[in-house]
Amino acid sequence: MADTGTEPTGLLQALAARLWNARWLIVAGVVALISVYVFAASSVFVLVAALAVMVAAALLPAGAANQSAERAAAMEASGLQRLSGEYLAAAVADPLIIFDRTATIVHANAAAFAAFGGIAPGMSLSLKFRAPEMQSLLDSVLAGTVASSVIEYLEKLPVERAYRVSASSVGHGTDLYVLAFKDQSESRRIDRMRADFIANASHELRTPLASIAGFIETLRGPARNDPAARDQFLQIMQNQTGRMARLIDDLLSLSRLEMKPYLRPGTEVDLRQTVDSVIDSLAPLATENGVVVERDFPQGRLAVPGDRDELFQVFENLLENACKYGQSGGRVAVSIARTEDGPEPGIDVTIRDFGPGIPEEHIPRITERFYRVDVESSRTQKGTGLGLSIVKHILTRHNGRLSIKSEVGKGAAFSVHLPAL
Ligand SMILES: Nc1ncnc2c1ncn2[C@@H]1O[C@H](COP(=O)(O)OP(=O)(O)OP(=O)(O)O)[C@@H](O)[C@H]1O
Ligand SMILES: [Mg+2]
Repeated sequence: MADTGTEPTGLLQALAARLWNARWLIVAGVVALISVYVFAASSVFVLVAALAVMVAAALLPAGAANQSAERAAAMEASGLQRLSGEYLAAAVADPLIIFDRTATIVHANAAAFAAFGGIAPGMSLSLKFRAPEMQSLLDSVLAGTVASSVIEYLEKLPVERAYRVSASSVGHGTDLYVLAFKDQSESRRIDRMRADFIANASHELRTPLASIAGFIETLRGPARNDPAARDQFLQIMQNQTGRMARLIDDLLSLSRLEMKPYLRPGTEVDLRQTVDSVIDSLAPLATENGVVVERDFPQGRLAVPGDRDELFQVFENLLENACKYGQSGGRVAVSIARTEDGPEPGIDVTIRDFGPGIPEEHIPRITERFYRVDVESSRTQKGTGLGLSIVKHILTRHNGRLSIKSEVGKGAAFSVHLPAL
């Protein structure tokens, strides 16, 4: 072992430290012995006794000062003192910049290099971060008026990101300061989504509510004695309450799914049986819309791990959309295929219609909550705009994927890929 050679030196150092700590005791002993030697008889035993006192003092238990010296030695041995600012900065996942009292960068960690391209030691922070709030943050910390300060800062390039930045001085008298950046972009995006969602949901509920309130007023006023108008208005009011109930059901469905987003469903689902029962349950809608549903299922077992009710909801939403929006095509093809080779073996269920299709620019956004290609046509079809976002949520829980292909004027194909057992 490399340390063995240093042991005798270590012992000598420890002995010296003990002697030093007991120095007053030793001095007292020596003074006492010298007085005995001077005032009594001169004898070699007195010298031996003096030496014995010194040895005893050296062997006395170590005092508090001695213990802290030992702790420092232990820390040194464990390598703690070797931890430099650079190591600490590298271990922090958020961008971190160390600078001096002229606001010049002394060191930046890898996260800072990745977040703010083009920074280097020796560069002026004021030149790199020109925003006024950043300048005043640097000024206040460098002036020493505050030990640390926090601001909100928006970095526009290379991509827009919102940070909470704190600046603080490092230790005492080091003349070094640290800027730490906490990325707030994701939490801001979630806040914005939540606000949009509430605004959309309230708007969707307020529209039928306003219409119901209007009809109640008409029925109590001008149409009070008009039985024909009353029947017609009551029918509209009933439709509107139905729409509100559907919206609330969809919202509850989404919120229930969000409560358990990463829970992998445990049971086995027979896709042939599930898709068959979806087609059967939507037969009245297909007939009403003049759509013929064709099936193309392979032989053999078609099972995936999952939650049957949730997968039923997925295919129901897709087939309902195909019958509603692809009505003009007159037919909908539902096919199931195994994808045994390739990176993700599993089962694909494709629902294809031959209606107007979906313009390309809408496809990436179509699974967003309340997103509709044509709001009016969706409303007349009693749509809430939540169907596909529910589909997407359920598929995420199943480790599955939804892919949408469409050619305007020729129809749309929605494919669900589910990993096999
Ligand atoms: N097969 C399709 N052909 C053309 N457009 C479609 C098709 N499927 C969906 N869309 C468009 O995508 C939009 C969103 O569909 P989604 O299923 O999320 O909502 P919805 O059908 O309006 O309401 P919900 O499903 O809640 O009743 C629809 O409003 C429609 O504009
Ligand atoms: Mg739908």
